[in-house]
Amino acid sequence: MVDAYSPLLDAGERLSRAALSALQLERLKSSLSHAYENTKHYRAAFDAAGVKPSDLASLADLSKFPFTTKSDLRANYPFGFFAVPQSEVVRIHASSGTTGKPTVVGYTKKDIEVWSSVVARSIRAAGGRPGMKVHVAYGYGLFTGGLGAHYGAEALGCTVIPMSGGQTEKQVQLIADFEPEIIMVTPSYMLAILDEFRRQGLDPRKSSLKIGIFGAEPWTEAMRREIEEAFAIDAVDIYGLSEVMGPGVANECVETKDGLTIWEDHFYPEIIDPETGETLPDGELGELVFTSLTKEAMPIIRYRTRDLTRLLPGTARVMRRIERISGRTDDMMIIRGVNVFPTQIEEQILKEPALAPHYVLEITRPGRMDELKVIVEQREGASATDVLAASKGLRHHVKTMIGISVAVDVAPPGGIERSLGKAKRIRDLRPR
Ligand code: DLL
Repeated sequence: MVDAYSPLLDAGERLSRAALSALQLERLKSSLSHAYENTKHYRAAFDAAGVKPSDLASLADLSKFPFTTKSDLRANYPFGFFAVPQSEVVRIHASSGTTGKPTVVGYTKKDIEVWSSVVARSIRAAGGRPGMKVHVAYGYGLFTGGLGAHYGAEALGCTVIPMSGGQTEKQVQLIADFEPEIIMVTPSYMLAILDEFRRQGLDPRKSSLKIGIFGAEPWTEAMRREIEEAFAIDAVDIYGLSEVMGPGVANECVETKDGLTIWEDHFYPEIIDPETGETLPDGELGELVFTSLTKEAMPIIRYRTRDLTRLLPGTARVMRRIERISGRTDDMMIIRGVNVFPTQIEEQILKEPALAPHYVLEITRPGRMDELKVIVEQREGASATDVLAASKGLRHHVKTMIGISVAVDVAPPGGIERSLGKAKRIRDLRPR
């Protein structure tokens, strides 16, 4: 258990709320000036909105400044958002996105140090300690997951096993042979690793793993219970995005498991109404927006993440938390007028003991209305009667809890393709 006075906490985590706010204000001022003075985009955007960095006198004044969106980043592809000479950029990452050009991000040497320190803090918040072995199964490469986790684990003083994603058989072999205490991987790929443990006749509960740090995609409390039970580990949530830094913008503390503490000394959060752009008070559900407080190569001002959550007061730390991300505005399906996120369906699936947490959601439009089909795997060993009852049960839960009628198709064990990284839950078959 880590309390507020624990020597395990770093200086940033030990700041009082007042000291933290003062630090945020000071850093916010310099971040706005840095962006305005060194990036064409921000200069033009601030000028168009009629604001100058000197207009920020309080944290609340940030709402006067314009948002930054993914299309702004795309329009300045590849390096238009960089605020330092290219010779000072020591690393590039990019997120592939679903369409078009990737979003490119850059880091100075100091940015990499800050990033490593927040990931180290995240691993420590999850229960990791120096000397532990960390198996990194997030993908290495342009994706920030692998290298972000890697540098953070090294900074904490851990031994890193840079396995990357894929080669599932080898993942399990290395876990069995190298005996890591920690694994960092997407929750959906952890399920593929679980299948492979069983295929090899190994008991996942007897592995060396004690802690899993899962993120990069939405997942649910039901999925946490599933994974914790299967591996006998603590499963905690890690959040981040490349535009803001990478993994380690926020992380859950293992002692409370009640949402993710935002590392607010480096990333300033706001929640806005996604329709109007208005800033919402803490506690209300809306779109998460981040402003970087210390980034050099690519300061980011009021970046619209499209992730939906709410800001909550601190518990295990002084810094505020976000609730587990319920979904992205882009992943919201509107089925006969009802807004639905894949995580809501996941919760209902996991209520049925005969169904496994492997699923895809197929949207079609046979007539004028959109229809949703849940294609979900049955668990190994479930009888035909169990499966029939489960499929009926799932339709019923979705109808009563979410308010829509869905079709359910139950696939045999292994019938749904496993993801190696971020799971793709939605298959949209509607005519364009
Ligand atoms: O996914 C960074 C990351 C790597 C985070 C490893 C955690 C672990 P991007 O590829 O830019 O970066 O995707 C960012 O992924 O806006 C969310 O929609 C989603 N996401 C990330 N973490 C979580 C999470 C990385 N814990 C986008 N829960 C974000 C839900 C998450 N969604």
